[in-house]
Amino acid sequence: MQPVLIVEGLAKDFFLHEQRETIPSCSNVYLESREGKLTAIVGPTGAGKSSVLKCIYRTYLPSTGKIMFCDTAGQSMDLARADEHQMLRLRQREIGFVTQFLNCLPRKSALDVVAEPLVASGVHRTAARTSAGEMLARLAVPQRLWCVPPATFSGGEKQRVNLARGLISRPRLLLLDEPTASLDPGTTDLAVKLIETLKEDGVAMIAIFHQPDLVRRLADDVVELAPPVLVKDYNKECLS
Ligand SMILES: Nc1ncnc2c1ncn2[C@@H]1O[C@H](COP(=O)(O)OP(=O)(O)OP(=O)(O)O)[C@@H](O)[C@H]1O
Ligand SMILES: [Mg+2]
Repeated sequence: MQPVLIVEGLAKDFFLHEQRETIPSCSNVYLESREGKLTAIVGPTGAGKSSVLKCIYRTYLPSTGKIMFCDTAGQSMDLARADEHQMLRLRQREIGFVTQFLNCLPRKSALDVVAEPLVASGVHRTAARTSAGEMLARLAVPQRLWCVPPATFSGGEKQRVNLARGLISRPRLLLLDEPTASLDPGTTDLAVKLIETLKEDGVAMIAIFHQPDLVRRLADDVVELAPPVLVKDYNKECLS
């Protein structure tokens, strides 16, 4: 079976204009993602794990490398070179992202935040809100919170809403950035069960976890990132 995604030699550097410094993030990343399989990215803080997912979703433009994505129609394209229009289309239909932190409009209810990806893919708002309610219930978000904007929610409640939003549209490729980091053990278990259901449904996933037990439980492949190489003594320079 052809992989859904092949990342080859991916690197991302940031040039900070004010400091006139180049900050290395991920470098020389190779990974594959297949239908119904979960590839885990592990490594210490600052190793560039989130940057890899952001390059795939094209929140960041990669510095070098290829990100070959095979869409539902069997067409292959390099996401490192795709234009904004192509990326918007893919984000609506094929690639989902559960980010480390929930970004949402202050006046939008939790139900609408979760329903949004379905509405964007053409599902009627009423049906999308019904599915959103089912997803929130599966992640144990109390019904009294469904009509409230998540801005004031606790960290764990926000993360449940974020997960529900990412999992609802069952994209072809799902990117998960520490999806269970602020959940209690019971809710982590619910989230793991949902991720297992998505695997059975054939969704390809790339996920970042800091908890080794979750990697053992869910990952089919593990890619380890090393911290970026220090090219000069920043410490000495910053302190002098
Ligand atoms: N937008 C940005 N501008 C400048 N530097 C950035 C930016 N995003 C990430 N970096 C830098 O890239 C490096 C990798 O960051 P990244 O967030 O990818 O790490 P991570 O492995 O996900 O870490 P963590 O486990 O703490 O989430 C860090 O040194 C960070 O400061
Ligand atoms: Mg991160």
